[in-house]
Amino acid sequence: MSDRYLDFTQSAFGKSLSGLLGLPQPPRLRRATGPYAARPLDGQSVMLGSAANGELAAALLVVLKEAGATVQVATAHAGLSPIKAASAATGISLKTEPNPEDRAAAPVAFVFDATGIADATQLRALYDFLQPRVGRIPANGRVLLLGRAPADAGTPAAAAAAAALRGFTRSFGKEIGKKGATVNLIEVGRGAEDALAGPLRFLLSPHAAYITAQTLALNAPAGDPASKFFAPLGGKVAVVTGAARGIGAAIAATLAREGAQVVGIDRPQEEGALGETLSAFGGFGLALDITAADAPQRIAQELTTRFGGIDIVVHNAGITRDKMLKNMAPHLWDMVLDVNFGAILRINDALLAHGLNDGARMVCISSIGGIAGNAGQTNYGATKAGVMGYVEAMAPVMARRGGAINAVAPGFIETAMTAQMPTGPREVGRRLASLGQGGLPIDIAEAVTFLASPLASAVNGRTLRVCGQNFVGA
Ligand SMILES: NC(=O)c1ccc[n+]([C@@H]2O[C@H](COP(=O)([O-])OP(=O)(O)OC[C@H]3O[C@@H](n4cnc5c(N)ncnc54)[C@H](O)[C@@H]3O)[C@@H](O)[C@H]2O)c1
Repeated sequence: MSDRYLDFTQSAFGKSLSGLLGLPQPPRLRRATGPYAARPLDGQSVMLGSAANGELAAALLVVLKEAGATVQVATAHAGLSPIKAASAATGISLKTEPNPEDRAAAPVAFVFDATGIADATQLRALYDFLQPRVGRIPANGRVLLLGRAPADAGTPAAAAAAAALRGFTRSFGKEIGKKGATVNLIEVGRGAEDALAGPLRFLLSPHAAYITAQTLALNAPAGDPASKFFAPLGGKVAVVTGAARGIGAAIAATLAREGAQVVGIDRPQEEGALGETLSAFGGFGLALDITAADAPQRIAQELTTRFGGIDIVVHNAGITRDKMLKNMAPHLWDMVLDVNFGAILRINDALLAHGLNDGARMVCISSIGGIAGNAGQTNYGATKAGVMGYVEAMAPVMARRGGAINAVAPGFIETAMTAQMPTGPREVGRRLASLGQGGLPIDIAEAVTFLASPLASAVNGRTLRVCGQNFVGA
């Protein structure tokens, strides 16, 4: 379903009328129009800043240079010395920050290394870097902070400073969202520095247009960090449940875009739609109900016989059956629990025993409804929170096999599911986000594809919200 209000405010008349009435003017988000590029920042500039004791300058310079970016630095800046030392060590040259009038040289992104910040006073370096430049963040621009997880900090003061970055990120997201700009924080675990390239490339790119105000934590990588950024899923076999339409169809197409052979699963009554969706990119359809008693064995068997095993599993199929708890019949509880939760565990148990290749990556679709809760969704909210707990608990199991499991929690996404909502709640769902609009299935598909790929080798057991910073549960 299209967002008519957003389209209206993009017209000259709509812009002036909504401005006159003080109504929201959601930005037109710039999304990726093609696959991952080997050098996604070719010809573009990124401004790099650092805390005085920043630890990641060398890693960041290498990643930005390999992505094609020109790195700019401010001359008067507390964190200049670690950046200059890294430049000398790596041989990567720096450009001086251009004059604000020089539009052609304006940076598309601002990256700040906040590692090494030991207390509240040292957080001032973040203010000093970003505050004078807020007006220079372009429409659809990117701000990315790098920090350490509070649990990894050496002292309580350093832990507090690390946690402060999360609050900064969430508040700043609400300030810059109106121009389609995003801010995210990567918490780099000790030993995960080599795995920075994938998350940094993804979050700086238009593939992450609807992700803002999030903290993405990196552990020491389970598999090899990505060395190949173009078609990273080449040679991989991926299975996606609920692939006939909506978010699942977009996930299937996006995994295929990055090189995967995709097997899509949906209910027998959706066989026609499933075939149509998958034929667009050479996918293979398997019509079965994931809650059927023989579904786990059938999936394991079909996939091993036809494709020799599975590298990527995306548990996307999900349903809602909303009722206030006092009116909820037991079959509505059971149905939602079984599709959204029970079937995932049964299928994974079967695949872990037989069919899953070493290094396999799984992604489960959760929901912000599992974080904030919604009246009338006790069944749905329970399953979606359950999925988040499940990926946390399963992370070590998958890591032992060189793989990973993560969840994506979508916010309000424009699909058949949300088209059924009454107009009032639908409008609220869209506008109550920092980016002022609902997401598209492709936004979830991009996040799933990133998590399913070696670009996210250091991400395991996490839930990534893809919600435009929806205020629900933020
Ligand atoms: N649309 C949103 O705003 C939103 C928000 C948060 C989370 N989600 C989650 O995203 C996922 C996809 O949602 P959507 O909006 O694309 O939904 P959708 O209803 O458009 O599509 C779901 C697909 O899953 C399939 N499916 C349902 N039960 C199945 C079963 N038993 N066996 C096999 N296939 C089955 C359906 O046939 C359908 O093709 C769900 O898990 C949903 O909970 C959606």
